[in-house]
Amino acid sequence: MAKHTIVSMPGDGIGNQVLPEAIRVLDAVGFEAEYVHADIGWECWIKEGNALPERAIELLRQYKVGLFGAITSKPKKEAEAELSPALRGKEYQYFSPIVSMRQIFNLDVCMRPCMSFPGNPLNFIRKKPAGGFEEPKVDVVVFRQNTEGLYAGVEWTNPPQPVRDALRAHPKFKPFDKVAGTDLAISVRIITRPAARRICEAAFLHARNHGYKSVTICEKPNVLRETSGMMEEVAKEVHKQYSDIALWSTNIDAQTMWLTKNPEEYGVIVASNLFGDVISDAFAGLVGGLGFAASGNVGQEVAVFEPTHGSAPKYAELDPAIVNPIAMILSAAMMLDHLGENDKACKIRDAIAVVVAEGKVRTYDMMRISGGTKSLAQGAASTTQMTDAILAKLGVTVEKAYAGSGKN
Ligand code: NAI
Ligand code: MG
Repeated sequence: MAKHTIVSMPGDGIGNQVLPEAIRVLDAVGFEAEYVHADIGWECWIKEGNALPERAIELLRQYKVGLFGAITSKPKKEAEAELSPALRGKEYQYFSPIVSMRQIFNLDVCMRPCMSFPGNPLNFIRKKPAGGFEEPKVDVVVFRQNTEGLYAGVEWTNPPQPVRDALRAHPKFKPFDKVAGTDLAISVRIITRPAARRICEAAFLHARNHGYKSVTICEKPNVLRETSGMMEEVAKEVHKQYSDIALWSTNIDAQTMWLTKNPEEYGVIVASNLFGDVISDAFAGLVGGLGFAASGNVGQEVAVFEPTHGSAPKYAELDPAIVNPIAMILSAAMMLDHLGENDKACKIRDAIAVVVAEGKVRTYDMMRISGGTKSLAQGAASTTQMTDAILAKLGVTVEKAYAGSGKN
């Protein structure tokens, strides 16, 4: 019997192209696992009115660890129009399966490493004052609270009367009180102290275990005094047990500006849901973008690892596939870390580092050309060729070929 059972959820579009590539790498590195397939995504929505069927939830409940590709989401009206005719008009409502998974299993800690691999032509460079350019090494891990904040889903257009009555209790609601319900949209930003504590503790623990010198709480407490205020207060409390690590505080708006000024200064960043989403994408942009952005959604029992990118429908039907599998493969390596198979995870990251540093095999995104079948004729590697190149380098060691303070 295999040592681990992993729930494999390729989902939609390019999820079906990149997830099997990650499994090839996991097999090659000697990860002993069985994969059970779970149906999720757009097809399930169309046929069953539920993009995350109960049987997928059950598999995750049973096996606890999932690898997820990507899903397609569409706006409300389009989603309803694509439902199979037998289901239409029956009040089925589309919910994103990844958001649902996060809520059902309380996957409240989202980890998003943003690490530059030397030799990646997509890495951020900056002008030196004396002329020429330099490439700062970015090695940041964003800890994003994954279940609350503005993504908690408590929102209305045309809020019901009891909600309006409650809002009226706040003096600052006065200017909005006269607005017609149909012209009034409200999303509630909810932060709870226990969840704030868990994300801050996870961030500090990661910093300590992986040698990062600082944790930055990235919020906006000067304006969002209650919610960001609570995040910051909890970060300060948790910091008391981590006097070896510095606690910095930045505002989300300023942080996005400083990002390109001194990205090498930052280590671990912790933020509430929306701000964490924003700042992790912003940092990912400095180290290769969607083709390199991996993530883990970790709860107390269940964990799901996924690339940050979506289903990229325009490339989903291409044969051979052309998208970059590295984000998915890095997500699989994060899964190995989670399962205590750190040596195998490092082997994968080292192989990726060598392939990127050599620069001989690059998918279209790494060449800064448009995607499409034409890209292959222009010298871009296909999805499979990139994986093959990584497989060929497994076991090749790199002498700190990448900013790896936290990665070994
Ligand atoms: P997307 O991430 O699917 O694609 C945006 C563009 O980024 C693509 O057209 C492609 O040019 C590039 N790209 C993405 N992944 C790449 C890869 N591995 N290699 C090279 N290039 C890559 O985002 P988009 O187009 O906004 O959304 C498409 C669908 O995906 C939508 O239905 C959206 O709701 C869904 N989505 C799902 C996510 C998830 O499953 N977690 C996250 C983001 C979007
Ligand atoms: Mg995002």
